[in-house]
Amino acid sequence: MARLKKKTIIFGSSGDIGKKIKQVLNKDKILEINSKNLDLGNIEQVENFETNFIPDNIIFVSAKNNPKDFLSLSNREIQEIFNINFISFIKILKKLLKKIIKAKKKCKIVIITSLYSRVGRSQRAIYSISKHALLGLTRNLAVELGPKGITVNAVSPGYVDTKMTRNNLTLKQINFLKSKTPLKKIILPNDIARIVKILLDDETKSITGQEIIVDGGISINGSFGL
Ligand SMILES: NC(=O)c1ccc[n+]([C@@H]2O[C@H](COP(=O)([O-])OP(=O)(O)OC[C@H]3O[C@@H](n4cnc5c(N)ncnc54)[C@H](OP(=O)(O)O)[C@@H]3O)[C@@H](O)[C@H]2O)c1
Repeated sequence: MARLKKKTIIFGSSGDIGKKIKQVLNKDKILEINSKNLDLGNIEQVENFETNFIPDNIIFVSAKNNPKDFLSLSNREIQEIFNINFISFIKILKKLLKKIIKAKKKCKIVIITSLYSRVGRSQRAIYSISKHALLGLTRNLAVELGPKGITVNAVSPGYVDTKMTRNNLTLKQINFLKSKTPLKKIILPNDIARIVKILLDDETKSITGQEIIVDGGISINGSFGL
């Protein structure tokens, strides 16, 4: 599918999935947001953030996932994870959308969510709650911004071969997950990046408010270990 040069903001372009997204969109003019130029955990920095870049595409990939029992999380840790994974994004998104709407642009927004946008897991409470919130944001903004020609979609990866996965899971756990996945594989960052690119394409402009799950089928496997 042919694609015109677009202006794209990628939040979290330095992570394993973000890097691949940047690579597949290499024809775009890209503004990258990572902890090097903006700490999403720091609300003061986020509120002072300004840009003249009016994007055609906004991709939110940033996240912190720090597995810990809910009861042992400090209030500061809870706030930080929620800021990075959700609050800072909605604050910046609001500023960007005002400019986009004023410029009468038809923007496409893609948010990277997770299988934990729908289910819970011990030691993942705040990460999972922030991902539920992002999925809610996807649906609500799709409804509210649809009349302005703005689409909002979510991509939920299953277990992806990234630093985040290797830090949070043992090799034994990864192999167990592979065995429970109908496609018998771990997802690759490129599998996620290709779907993001498709959702940004003009040919898919009628899709909005949807969650595309890219997980090798693990979330629909009803075998439950039998
Ligand atoms: N890996 C998986 O299996 C998996 C599964 C489901 C969903 N996901 C989702 O996919 C996305 C990417 O995951 P990944 O595995 O590629 O993660 P990753 O490599 O850890 O990347 C995380 C990204 O978030 C940015 N970030 C973290 N803290 C930040 C802060 N305080 N301020 C600004 N930016 C910050 C990082 O920027 P810096 O490098 O500059 O810190 C990095 O670009 C995440 O939303 C994750 O929840 C991943």
